[in-house]
Amino acid sequence: MRTDSTRARFFLRATDSRIEYTEEERRTWATVFRELTALYPTHACREYLRNWKLLEECGYREDNIPQLQDVSEFLKGRTGFTLRPVAGYLSSRDFLAGLAFRVFHCTQYIRHGSAPLYTPEPDCIHELFGHVPLFADPSFAQFSQEMGLCSLGASDDEIAKLATCYFFSVEFGLCKQDGELRVFGAGLLSSVSELQHALTDKSVKKPFDPLTTCEQECLITTFQDVYFYTESFEDAKEQMRSFASTIKRPFAVRYNPYTQSVDVLDNTRNIGYLVSEVKGELCIVSDALRRVQQIEKARMRGKGIDKAMEMSIDEHVENGEQSDESDTHTGYANGVHK
Ligand SMILES: [Fe+2]
Repeated sequence: MRTDSTRARFFLRATDSRIEYTEEERRTWATVFRELTALYPTHACREYLRNWKLLEECGYREDNIPQLQDVSEFLKGRTGFTLRPVAGYLSSRDFLAGLAFRVFHCTQYIRHGSAPLYTPEPDCIHELFGHVPLFADPSFAQFSQEMGLCSLGASDDEIAKLATCYFFSVEFGLCKQDGELRVFGAGLLSSVSELQHALTDKSVKKPFDPLTTCEQECLITTFQDVYFYTESFEDAKEQMRSFASTIKRPFAVRYNPYTQSVDVLDNTRNIGYLVSEVKGELCIVSDALRRVQQIEKARMRGKGIDKAMEMSIDEHVENGEQSDESDTHTGYANGVHK
């Protein structure tokens, strides 16, 4: 009974959040779609490109603006992230707190049709092109949630620093891939002109270092004065993690996926529950590893026999002998046929 009423509420909410976009908004979307997708192969990082290909499943097409509800359901199936519509800017604290619960607050309106390639504040083109593809990546989703968890209980000053580092990595970050710079920042991946500008020689680029990057001014209505790059996409995440771990608070937190709430780890009993759960998870990992290793060993044994058979046949041929299906060679005796 409870489940039914929950479903009913969910259905109503899903229906309410659907938007009937106007012809002008669809034209704006199509223009941005064409321009950005032409740049992605040479500008976007490989993790973004990999996930971009999957989004047709939830309605990403030049002639269709995907509905947040469909995208949200797609993301939930891949990484557990959901999109929650908001009317506009949230405070950094509220925005980051949402990430702790794998919730991404997302605008639903579309920029004015008179300037399809520019918006002074995030619209759903920014969210759908910039952020969503990487939220479909399990590793990036985990990282985003960690940033959210780190923000819980942090001081205003620490939230400001965390938000600035988030801005210059998740929004405007560059990383090295195959010896060249690529983009993973959502603010760039949703802006035709700044995406091109960021990778030209005209833009200033510096190595990402949270301790100094957190002092950089974030610009909203113009291109950034400087972009920060990391040695790899993984390196960006590791640097943000180590910076977040410097945030001072007398407790740790973790997201409990069973209750979909945040557990405060400030006493030995709560930590004990977590240790018990982690032990259970490690048993599963250990069992999975053992099974994979067994399969690998069996496969290697099979390859060894195949190789031995090849060598034996070669020897027979060199000695002027004929290979024969009735051969009682070890490989055949073990039922391994080429
Ligand atoms: Fe953004």
